[in-house]
Amino acid sequence: MRDLVRETTLSAHDFIVPLFIVEGSKIKSEISSMPDYYRFSLDLAIAEAKRLYDLGVKGVLLFVKVDDSLKDNTGAAALNTDGLMQRSICAIKKAVPELVVATDVALDPFSSYGHDGIVKDNKILNDATVAILTKMALSHAECGADMVAPSDMMDGRVLAIRQAFEKAGYVDTAIMSYSAKYASGFYGPFRDALDSAPGFGDKKTYQMDVANRKEARIEAARDIEEGADIVMVKPGMAYLDIVRDLANEVQVPIAVYQVSGEYAMLKAAAEKGWLDHDTVMLEQLMAFKRAGASIIVSYHAEHAISLL
Ligand code: PBG
Repeated sequence: MRDLVRETTLSAHDFIVPLFIVEGSKIKSEISSMPDYYRFSLDLAIAEAKRLYDLGVKGVLLFVKVDDSLKDNTGAAALNTDGLMQRSICAIKKAVPELVVATDVALDPFSSYGHDGIVKDNKILNDATVAILTKMALSHAECGADMVAPSDMMDGRVLAIRQAFEKAGYVDTAIMSYSAKYASGFYGPFRDALDSAPGFGDKKTYQMDVANRKEARIEAARDIEEGADIVMVKPGMAYLDIVRDLANEVQVPIAVYQVSGEYAMLKAAAEKGWLDHDTVMLEQLMAFKRAGASIIVSYHAEHAISLL
């Protein structure tokens, strides 16, 4: 009877899986603050993408870890047509053409300051950053990315990217905008994974105040007007009210990002025997769907799918 009347379902098709890619070959290194989650060299990332696709996963979200020697204030390495991100997009699209390849668009992994934008006098320059992000997004589209995901929170970047795509003929390349991305403490393990923690200050001049709810609706509405195809809420669990607000208000699909700190918290509690890992994991993932998300970006995806 419970099965007959269930209101929400969870399936492999709901997930986008983040992949952390590093230079080298045959590298699979565990992220210390994210047990059972790995950085892969491209050869192994390709194999991983194939495996995920065979499990029913429809999308991956690519992040690259960049050597310190390549970092500067303008994120120049992000535009390298032969950069790790560009090579990864090409190779994964070639190996698994039907898998949706989405890419992170922000400067932080490439920034000597660990910030998402260009820094001047301890401030982040919005418009100069948008210009670089647009080129970065375009270079991903040129390599065959199906979707770019600007995670930087600069104002106006969705419009700039959309216009650049239209002009260059990438009319089918989607934009999944991190619209309501909060200045959260939950990103810690991710910054370990990519060695991308801000070198000074915090991200509060561009990421949202955790106290704000109405602002998320404004951010999402703006991004949709600017041309976003999917809007994202991030982090997940602590922001289900925002997911529901947007689901009630906007007509585009909503993605939610269950971030690294959420993953780490559950792993840690389970390791101590304080929580039952799988029960709590599935409960959280179901809650995202119940709150109104169509897409869940999650490090738990593969394990969850094995249980479904
Ligand atoms: C960077 C970016 C971050 C995450 C995704 N893209 C970190 C940040 O904004 O500092 C966090 C993801 C996670 O914690 O799992 N633009």
